[in-house]
Amino acid sequence: MSDLFSKEDTRPKTERLAELAEQAKSCSACSLSRTRANVVFGMGNPEAPLVIIGEGPGQNEDSTGLPFVGRSGLFLDECLKACGITRKHIYICNVIRCRACAYEAGRLQNRPPTADEVKACQPWLEQTLQIIQPLVILCLGSPSANAIIHRNFRITQERGAWYASKYAPHAIASWHPAYILRLEGAAYNVAKEELVNDIEAARKRVIQARKEPPNSTLF
Ligand code: URA
Repeated sequence: MSDLFSKEDTRPKTERLAELAEQAKSCSACSLSRTRANVVFGMGNPEAPLVIIGEGPGQNEDSTGLPFVGRSGLFLDECLKACGITRKHIYICNVIRCRACAYEAGRLQNRPPTADEVKACQPWLEQTLQIIQPLVILCLGSPSANAIIHRNFRITQERGAWYASKYAPHAIASWHPAYILRLEGAAYNVAKEELVNDIEAARKRVIQARKEPPNSTLF
């Protein structure tokens, strides 16, 4: 029986997310809407206890409409696989949902999102997380950690530490795959190992969090 006293949307998460993604297709809240090929809303399991949040779509993501399908995505999949995780186990999205890019040396290059772009996209991120209600969020890179954990997050100092977030009871940040792919030699190996360790820590935190009473103070 439905709860007469609650305004809670009781439809399945898949349906609610699909509706939100449809609405996002016509978003024009920032100027990235004028240059995008596709809104890259997010993909994966809407029932997932673990949500991974990156920075923003690159060229491959813009042309397919799917997050993390380029070089960074393949690398991330390899790191997830090392922890027994596939895309079916998680939901994955970005802080901004349209590609941010600029001409550099005559070529369109990805660039970090501006504060205004992040702000314009925040309602989509918030509504996504409100629907999924993850137990654990893994942020990849600073823009994601700034949006989810705290505004002055320093990835070099605070990576791998646990925080409570208003979007999930447990949040952790790690290196962005694209950053690791730019490293070489020992630095590459160390950063890759740290990302895998952070993913594994997130997996274990989900198991632990499932035993905790639900947190009704979120949002
Ligand atoms: N980098 C991101 O942060 N997100 C993507 O979807 C792809 C690359």
